[in-house]
Amino acid sequence: MSVVSSITVKVPATTANLGPGFDCIGAALKLYNEFKFTIVDAGELIIQVSGSEAAKVQTDESNLLYQAFVKLYQYIEKTPPAVKIEINLGVPLARGLGSSATAIVGGLVAANELAGSPLSELQMMELAIAMEGHPDNVVPALLGGCRLAATSKKGWEICDILWHRDIVAVVAIPDFELSTSEARKVVPTEVSRADAIFNISHLGLLLRGLATNREEWLIAALQDKLHQPYRQALIPGYDTVNAAAVAAGAYGMVISGAGPTLLALVDISYAKSVETAMANAWTAMGLNSVVRSLTLDRQGAVIL
Ligand code: HSE
Repeated sequence: MSVVSSITVKVPATTANLGPGFDCIGAALKLYNEFKFTIVDAGELIIQVSGSEAAKVQTDESNLLYQAFVKLYQYIEKTPPAVKIEINLGVPLARGLGSSATAIVGGLVAANELAGSPLSELQMMELAIAMEGHPDNVVPALLGGCRLAATSKKGWEICDILWHRDIVAVVAIPDFELSTSEARKVVPTEVSRADAIFNISHLGLLLRGLATNREEWLIAALQDKLHQPYRQALIPGYDTVNAAAVAAGAYGMVISGAGPTLLALVDISYAKSVETAMANAWTAMGLNSVVRSLTLDRQGAVIL
């Protein structure tokens, strides 16, 4: 087996929804997966995984990273080359921090690079959204920053949401998993006009709050009526961790993506105290978690 060519793609974790922005807003965070693709002259697919959750990752053709890699070659009507893939996992799996999105984006970006860049960033983004089913993780994973995605007659309009430099996301990552499909099943498909208005107004306020770091706007904005009330029951200790985060100075707390990670938005001066408060709240209930402060990734997926 001789090596023909190799590249490494680094893709950030993402948090989707940010409370009122269900399925339309997401932010990239400075926590990463790295994917190295080596084109080999022939042979079986080889996938090697490192990181604390490596044993949970599929290493055959059902691997999502590999499926995304193949998808791009199918799209350009070419046969994918034989590859060896090395995965270095930094983003926890099935915790609401966009691990699937890193795989989809990583596979597409690697394939596009190795195929000689046939697709534009926009085309890759559309393929990624189609694979994931919603835009709010894959778009910031690919582009970086905080992004809002809205459908248009042509497809998608994506805009960059200003994120004040002093705003930090404190993520409390429990040691249990919650699958996105399970967490989507509990969300109702129809909502009242009052709940729709609640979310429209709070998302608008959130956008201005993120841009300005204005305390009263962010405190009011981090609320939701579309998905969180139905998902909270899937996350033991939600209310306790929320109360602890707010008492320690957080603007508010939301479910990161489909959960179970809980995410508090804070001014940087409160990050340490909120970290401690959230960790202690879950520990007091006998639940283990890893809590850390993450700042916004502004680069998105990069080829190293
Ligand atoms: N917006 C999606 C959800 C994100 O909340 O179900 C899941 O990754």
